[in-house]
Amino acid sequence: MFKYIIEQSGHLSGEIDISGSKNAALPIIAASLLADGDVVLKNIPCLSDTTLMCDILKCFGAKVTAEKNTLYINSSNLKNYIAPYDLSSKIRGSFLVMGPMLARCGKVRISLPGGCPIGTRPVDLHLKAFAQMGAEILTGHGYIDVSSKKLTGAKIHLDFPSVGATENIMMAAVGANGTTYIGNASQEPEIVDLANFLNKSGAKIYGAGTDEIKIVGRTPLSPCEYSVIPDRIEAGTFMVAAAITGGKITLNNVIPNHLSPVIAKLTELGVKISAKNTTINITANSPLHCADVKTMPHPGFPTDMQALMMSLLSVCDGTSVICETIFENRFMHAPELVRMGASIKTDGRCAIINGRPYLTGACVKATDLRAGAALSIAALCAKGKSEISDIYHIERGYELFDEKLIKLGAKILKVKR
Ligand code: UD1
Repeated sequence: MFKYIIEQSGHLSGEIDISGSKNAALPIIAASLLADGDVVLKNIPCLSDTTLMCDILKCFGAKVTAEKNTLYINSSNLKNYIAPYDLSSKIRGSFLVMGPMLARCGKVRISLPGGCPIGTRPVDLHLKAFAQMGAEILTGHGYIDVSSKKLTGAKIHLDFPSVGATENIMMAAVGANGTTYIGNASQEPEIVDLANFLNKSGAKIYGAGTDEIKIVGRTPLSPCEYSVIPDRIEAGTFMVAAAITGGKITLNNVIPNHLSPVIAKLTELGVKISAKNTTINITANSPLHCADVKTMPHPGFPTDMQALMMSLLSVCDGTSVICETIFENRFMHAPELVRMGASIKTDGRCAIINGRPYLTGACVKATDLRAGAALSIAALCAKGKSEISDIYHIERGYELFDEKLIKLGAKILKVKR
């Protein structure tokens, strides 16, 4: 077990490269199960989550080798359809193998996703869609079995534009007989990336990035080489790090369009942001203003940036309200920020933040991935020293988090607990 010791760090400055997107990499690794032959995936972030996903593929019989940020996956000889409990229960993204396994092998068994600190996170929308496509679903002893002798395209309308459900349906539909339509589909950039990967392999997916996706099933897939998109949440995290320290930094390897809601909100606070091609420059001079934030499905403000905004608003002038509409319990970081001197009151899905002139260093716990990043970023501007424990959460989703911060001038040390 490791922890970060972080000292108040002054203005961050310099430039860093943003890694590949975790949330794009996970479904694309899973989708490699659909292709018969050698798939090459580039710009894959080296994270515990991506490693776990590769381990699940290996259990199915796929051959997976990694060389820095490139993965070589061959799923020609799948011999097993059961994802072991100890692997699949560790990572919610493991559920993304259901769609491709159903399409490829006609059956899959996976453990029910475990409890998650940010809410119950059910998978009912995924299962309802598979049932509509003709699959039989059995649950028992902590496992879900999904099987189908003849997966068939269907007209599916999602009750909520779930990212994971949209991805799972797309992957299952690629191997189904007939055409599938997904209404009220998620429009996240990661959905478009998955569709681009599948289409490059020969799939026929239309409308990804809109709320209506059409997938023509049973087009033969051939393996391809593909590079995943940059991680917009990692980029947003470093933008907030610059803003909270009054810094001036440059981020390379970004797609500015994917960050539009984050750029708009930070600009509203008074942060100066300019984007050109795949580069974003961020300059912040205090004091920054308060602003209200409401998380929404893309292209609204991303829930994965909510905790980070809370850290920043804790030191902005005035009172801000954050409304979390995506997850039911995603304010675990609020009491930890209060330990650092923030003034935050939560009431259900809303949080009221009264900006303070400064925060103070404290011992705090990373309760989940984004909460951990938010506390680390808050510690950069807090007077004195902070200790962030349970940083394995952070390392699930940020490649070289501490090293990149150090490159920008942060005083951060990773030590054994
Ligand atoms: C993905 C992202 C996660 C992000 C989230 C929302 C990955 C690996 N993770 O998670 O970082 O925070 O999108 O942008 O890409 N829901 C149901 N039933 C379902 C599925 C979802 O009720 O069957 C609910 C969830 O409990 C949640 C909401 O829908 O309240 C959004 O979940 P979803 O969009 O599915 O998120 P994930 O795909 O799990």
